[in-house]
Amino acid sequence: MKIEVSTKTLDRQPGDVLTLPVAEGGRLPSWAGRWPSAARKLVEPLLKSKDFTGKLNELAAFPAPGGLPVSWVYLVGVGKERELTPDRLRQVIAVAARRAQAQRRKALVFPVVGVSAREIPAETAGQVLAEGAVLGTYRFTLYKTLKPEEQKRLEKVTLAVGRGISSAAVATGAKNGTLIADAVGFSRDLINLPANHKYPEDIAARVQKNARKNTGASKISCRIIKKAELTRLGLNAILAVGQGSVHPPVLVALEYKGPGAGSKPPLVFVGKGITFDSGGISIKPSGNMDQMKYDMSGGAAAAGAIQAIAGLKLPVHVVGIIPFSENLPSGSAQRPGDIIRTFSGKTVEVLNTDAEGRLVLADALSFARRSKPAAMIDLATLTGACVVALGKHACALLTNHDGFARQVKEAAARTHERVWELPLWPEYSEQVKSGPADLKNIGDDGAGTIIGAVFLKEFVGNIPWVHLDIAGTAWADKDQAYLSKGGTGFGVRLLTALAADWKPLPSTVKVS
Ligand code: BES
Ligand code: ZN
Ligand code: ZN
Repeated sequence: MKIEVSTKTLDRQPGDVLTLPVAEGGRLPSWAGRWPSAARKLVEPLLKSKDFTGKLNELAAFPAPGGLPVSWVYLVGVGKERELTPDRLRQVIAVAARRAQAQRRKALVFPVVGVSAREIPAETAGQVLAEGAVLGTYRFTLYKTLKPEEQKRLEKVTLAVGRGISSAAVATGAKNGTLIADAVGFSRDLINLPANHKYPEDIAARVQKNARKNTGASKISCRIIKKAELTRLGLNAILAVGQGSVHPPVLVALEYKGPGAGSKPPLVFVGKGITFDSGGISIKPSGNMDQMKYDMSGGAAAAGAIQAIAGLKLPVHVVGIIPFSENLPSGSAQRPGDIIRTFSGKTVEVLNTDAEGRLVLADALSFARRSKPAAMIDLATLTGACVVALGKHACALLTNHDGFARQVKEAAARTHERVWELPLWPEYSEQVKSGPADLKNIGDDGAGTIIGAVFLKEFVGNIPWVHLDIAGTAWADKDQAYLSKGGTGFGVRLLTALAADWKPLPSTVKVS
């Protein structure tokens, strides 16, 4: 999609649809002073009669009144004007763009609001509006036979900027926002692929192919470690999880060295990449098991974020480590009770083969330490308990380092990919001690999300580390503002923001 920035007044903006953002409260919003009088005349009586209230994401479509160079006008509610935030802008433009696309319109005009009224920086406004427009019109249609008219996409969004707002800043934001949203789209595509089209080696090849598109200052190197090498290296936990499948596991290592940052210790992203989680021999109930193709969402987020970071040419050194594996039951699958010697040397008693994410991540995290990270963050659809605790509006954050966690929380606040911290107190670690082995992969006294994290903590050593359990946020059950049913790409925007504002941690801060 093309995003344009224009300084023409709204009565001179051609397009199929003109969007009028309307605030709650029965009165025209402060920015309506810039509307053509035909627009004010249309909206005022609707607000008075409460036929349109302006509540967030409400939408009504009207044939354009005379005097406007568009065919349609969409009123879209932004909620209370003083509560307008960048994320609400992202949502509102997504709602308008999605509707425009559904009605097969080609061009949408959207005035940049909130910059003067709510002091949102012009560049931020441009970025979130571009993100909302691109993400709101995202569709996964690879396997759908569509008639030509059903294939029509919204082609152009014009961000109309009024006097006193820097159109250059809006344009810079829009360019970055488009790039980031495209990376989210790449991540969503991987998640939405069915498990029979993304076996570990296949998805790794897709990630590599995508990485190779980046050249010059945006170059991403991508190494695929196949089964023979995993065996040679002793990444036995990844191998154990994958041994029930005829499609062998692989480990993908991505690296981007931004300008001037190549020799600095990297920020490492580790992502769970289970291409299908049946539970293995500890098999899951069949209801909704199809959704377990999204068990590689952490890996998709890591790959998508590195694409965005490289595209933005951020001056950071980033490494991505993604173990891809398929968790299936078969005659060769691992059994409950099996003991594996992980890459770290620690042994693990596998008491539940459905707690496989922490096994692949154990090896991935200890392997990642070879790159001498400044900090490591892992993203994983790790526990059903996380969905119970936080639902779909936040992922769980657990950490051994408050200073690093603070940077992650700030990135989360900026991107509205929200995180909520759970404790990692040492008492919990008792639950993962095993009789016959060093560790066991499940606990026995609740706190499922914390237990997953304390298990991982055993493999990060003294590296500042954050774990994000994205089991709830990685998948949307329905279309909703800028999310569409299916994979959300959660984490791409957060990781990109983290890298954009990354400040090396003072080495004096102790890891708990
Ligand atoms: N991939 C699942 C977690 C999950 C569940 C993600 C629901 C998204 C939605 C993970 O591998 C798993 O099965 N975890 C188990 C752990 C348990 C056996 C300790 C769980 O949460 O039940
Ligand atoms: Zn599982
Ligand atoms: Zn899983």
